[in-house]
Amino acid sequence: MFNQAHHFDIHGGDFSNNTNHNTYYGASHPQDILNKLNPVNASFKFGHHSPCLEGTRIGILEMLMRWARNRHSQPIFWLSGIAGTGKSTIAQSFCESLEKDNLLGGSFFCSRESEDHRNVGRIIPTLAYLLAKQFEPYYDQIIAALEADTTLASQSIKRQLEHLLLHPLQNINVSEGYWYFVLVIDALDECEDVDATQNVISILTAMPPAFYSHVHVFISCCPEYYIQQELERTSNKYLFKLHDMQTEIVQKDIQLYLHRSLCRQPISDNDIILLSEQAGKYFIYAFTQVQYLKKAPGNVAFRSRMSDLLENKFVAKSIDSLYNLLLTKAIDGMQANEKEGCKIFYKLCCVPI
Ligand SMILES: Nc1ncnc2c1ncn2[C@@H]1O[C@H](COP(=O)(O)OP(=O)(O)OP(=O)(O)O)[C@@H](O)[C@H]1O
Ligand SMILES: [Mg+2]
Repeated sequence: MFNQAHHFDIHGGDFSNNTNHNTYYGASHPQDILNKLNPVNASFKFGHHSPCLEGTRIGILEMLMRWARNRHSQPIFWLSGIAGTGKSTIAQSFCESLEKDNLLGGSFFCSRESEDHRNVGRIIPTLAYLLAKQFEPYYDQIIAALEADTTLASQSIKRQLEHLLLHPLQNINVSEGYWYFVLVIDALDECEDVDATQNVISILTAMPPAFYSHVHVFISCCPEYYIQQELERTSNKYLFKLHDMQTEIVQKDIQLYLHRSLCRQPISDNDIILLSEQAGKYFIYAFTQVQYLKKAPGNVAFRSRMSDLLENKFVAKSIDSLYNLLLTKAIDGMQANEKEGCKIFYKLCCVPI
């Protein structure tokens, strides 16, 4: 890089020889050093999910806050639930409450829809960045760690956890007094690298008690086999299965949701109950019903759509039947050439696996 260079001085600054080694950060601004964590915009603040409708999920949210406020509780909370049962919505509300109580260390909402959000290797550096932004003693430690090695954020999950979380946290002086945070990870099952995802869980669950006396971890995800395998191995956790909740309790929340969402429509209380029975424990089902009904152009169309939903007396054992109805309806209103394309798409999507 400096071949044949003569008579020059370096007055601080920030330069790299592009090999990611031997990087000089002599007088870099600490924020520039922190940016080496290359955080993803995946926290609850980026609005990828809405919070629970007020008045719903009260029991679960209270239980989560009781767990979060008690630093002697089990260090990992695993909220398990099959697709569409409302995990991310609960995680969003939980983050908002944690933040109000100054208990949120950081959050990462994974998503298969974006490369960064489905990359499990981005979770720990992003959480470290968020924690550093709000907790000064940790900030000092992480800056020191990154000054020593600027490539930590792209290293193995094990090294990330050790060098970005465990060691910096352990190095915080006891004179800082009491401190304790919750880290939130939603939709871990949406990360694409199954082995790395298992690795994160296995290393996280094996963190020493010294780590867990300051940090608790909330994970919400689908009960995928490879995740279940790792999380069930540890006794360090609470497990709450959303899909095993009493149907009547979920139904009450779904009825409130349908009622508020459709309050301007010509719908009776009985219709609400019938719709909620179809939704079962699936909020996504109720959400789809609402989208379908709300888009009805006028009262006559609304009643006709209600009949569509109610006459298909399927109970939501599978959401396929609702999508089936919606896709068929969508195809009915199309031109012949559009219909053909849609039918091919429909066959591809709905073919039994
Ligand atoms: N308590 C609630 N109040 C209002 N809407 C809700 C609630 N819970 C879920 N929903 C709605 O239901 C839909 C599905 O919820 P959510 O995305 O949280 O489910 P999920 O379990 O995370 O699904 P996936 O496994 O596919 O990620 C969302 O569109 C959300 O807006
Ligand atoms: Mg989700």
